[in-house]
Amino acid sequence: MSVSKPTPAVTAGDIRARKGGDPVVSLTCYTTPMARLMDEHCDFVLVGDSVGMVLHGLSSTLGVTMEMMILHAQAVARGLSHALMVVDMPFGSYEQGPQQAFANAARIMAETGAGAVKLEGGRRMAETIAFLVARGIPVMGHVGLTPQSVNALGGYKVQGRSDQAGVVRADARAVADAGAFAVVLEKMPAALANRITAEIAIPTIGIGASAGCDGQVLVVDDMLGLFDVFKPKFVKRYADLAEQAREAIADYAAEVRARRFPGPEHVFAEQTEKGAK
Ligand code: KIV
Repeated sequence: MSVSKPTPAVTAGDIRARKGGDPVVSLTCYTTPMARLMDEHCDFVLVGDSVGMVLHGLSSTLGVTMEMMILHAQAVARGLSHALMVVDMPFGSYEQGPQQAFANAARIMAETGAGAVKLEGGRRMAETIAFLVARGIPVMGHVGLTPQSVNALGGYKVQGRSDQAGVVRADARAVADAGAFAVVLEKMPAALANRITAEIAIPTIGIGASAGCDGQVLVVDDMLGLFDVFKPKFVKRYADLAEQAREAIADYAAEVRARRFPGPEHVFAEQTEKGAK
């Protein structure tokens, strides 16, 4: 299925041009109602493969499929008229090589109306990024902690401390040189994120990185306090919606059991009263 969706107001080129300018604002997004809420506030929304953990109860992002990403991206696209939509390429959909990556990235773009894709990895993905960009697919990179490599990294640890800083810097440079329009820097020392931001020509989008990055992204369910299974140090909770939901559900259950809900205002009369629906 292909989609016909108006070109978003914000393009990958606009994000690229924000290097060193006003901070780029982004959140992850997986559904139409959330997309409607964040569209006017975000420069881009990321349909992240974190959807697998946040909405599907998976223990990592490794089980996320192309079908899941496409279904959620189609839903998000219906709620956007301003923000750029970037869609994560799921684990296993691009690592074999540029041809596989192109086939899957093209499918994501055609079936969702995405303005760009994101993929994880630095130097090892440079050839693939260049291949996609040369064929008209804007690519966002992702270095530092790359959750799809959780097994190789031995957990969700801070990356690039002391002697490993050079590795992360080289990865970020490789992504920028390959033609990515921006790069996510995840979970690394702030000084390293600042250094990379100063060194490369494309915007850095921090998550667990530094306020000095060119922009920030957070997982929306984390910052709203909806996903409260665990809270990484780098998450600031701007609301506590899980607690509010728990209380509301408990109130509803108590009222149903006590036959206090539905009340007279929620039920229908036998005869239609004038003006009533
Ligand atoms: O999938 C995701 O939510 C991400 C962000 C952590 C950047 O890739």
